[in-house]
Amino acid sequence: MALLPGEVVARFSGSAEPVIYRAPGRVNLIGEHTDYNLGFVLPIALDMACYTAILPADHSCLRIYSRDMDREFCIGVAELTFAKPRGEWSDYVVGVARELATAGFPIEPCDLYIASDVPAGAGLSSSAALEIATAMALLGERRMGRIEIARLGQRAESQFVGMPCGIMDQYAAVFGHSGAALKIDCRSLEHEYVQLPENVRIIAVNSMVKHELGTSAYRQRVAECQEAVAAIRKSDPHVQSLRDVTLERFQAIEATIPEIARRRARHVISDNRRVVDFSAAARSGDLAEMGRLFVASHRSMQHDYEISCEEIDFLVDTAIEIPGVYGARMTGGGFGGCTVNLVAPEAVANFEQHLGAAYQEWYGKAPAFYECRPAEGASRA
Ligand code: GLA
Repeated sequence: MALLPGEVVARFSGSAEPVIYRAPGRVNLIGEHTDYNLGFVLPIALDMACYTAILPADHSCLRIYSRDMDREFCIGVAELTFAKPRGEWSDYVVGVARELATAGFPIEPCDLYIASDVPAGAGLSSSAALEIATAMALLGERRMGRIEIARLGQRAESQFVGMPCGIMDQYAAVFGHSGAALKIDCRSLEHEYVQLPENVRIIAVNSMVKHELGTSAYRQRVAECQEAVAAIRKSDPHVQSLRDVTLERFQAIEATIPEIARRRARHVISDNRRVVDFSAAARSGDLAEMGRLFVASHRSMQHDYEISCEEIDFLVDTAIEIPGVYGARMTGGGFGGCTVNLVAPEAVANFEQHLGAAYQEWYGKAPAFYECRPAEGASRA
């Protein structure tokens, strides 16, 4: 376990036993920026997780300690309603507490001790893991539907932290399953499990870069997709989101959509299709097709959605030349973070050695490798 009760008690010098909750990070296999367009995504929850321990307290605050940052933040529970975001790590916690209070789950004074082994800024959803572990801890024994917990985390992030994200990360943190990937329908908010073939390893490669375009570019993509919907509605008034447009229909009308919005829509609509096709290929064990779809998805993000960057393209282009690699693509919001790779088990060692050395030579830093196996969603630790 990444967090021991003893260290929590030592920090807060309390006498009660802390209760610890965990929520996992995720790696998205395919379907990027499709969630806020109400389409499909295919993440797996990771065994890297965020842990939040909670202890009752006799002060009047929500006192939060982050072990990773070695920082503490305190806010009076009575002040939560008036809290403003500070642009810091504590915003995720305060945002969740506010949402809980609004949803009719008042926050009692307490101490929270937080530690995570999901790398931050890597596109592996360290923030959703933090939100969901915190929501579970603050809820304690009080019952809330699991889908509501995911939505609450998303609201905290979009409305308090200010990142207008979709539902994928929080959903994966809540519903992750150890045997399979989750094919999430972001319109109905239902999921089905997709078993992955035994004879392939999923390796995330952390570029160790995160370009500071993040939130503003994300916001811009959300707006551009809305522009595309508005243009499509002129011919197809029933369309509410890009999810409602098939690839065939898009191809028939794409000339009527302004250029940037057209390219953004093409990515989203084609990546939705790729999630469906990839799931079918995974179920039938067709590794070559899975790999082909990975690379097609990457090219679509690179050229149509324009959310990749030089370091990530280098990792993808180098990886797909290595024997035993079926496919590679960027995963997550973009502009850095991780690639995700499908690699034959016997080729993993050579893959890591070769890609690591090539990246080191070009960019002067070592990438980190994480072997990803589907893990369970949030729970008491
Ligand atoms: C971030 C967001 C998700 C999703 C991905 C891109 O991780 O939090 O909601 O939009 O980017 O697929």
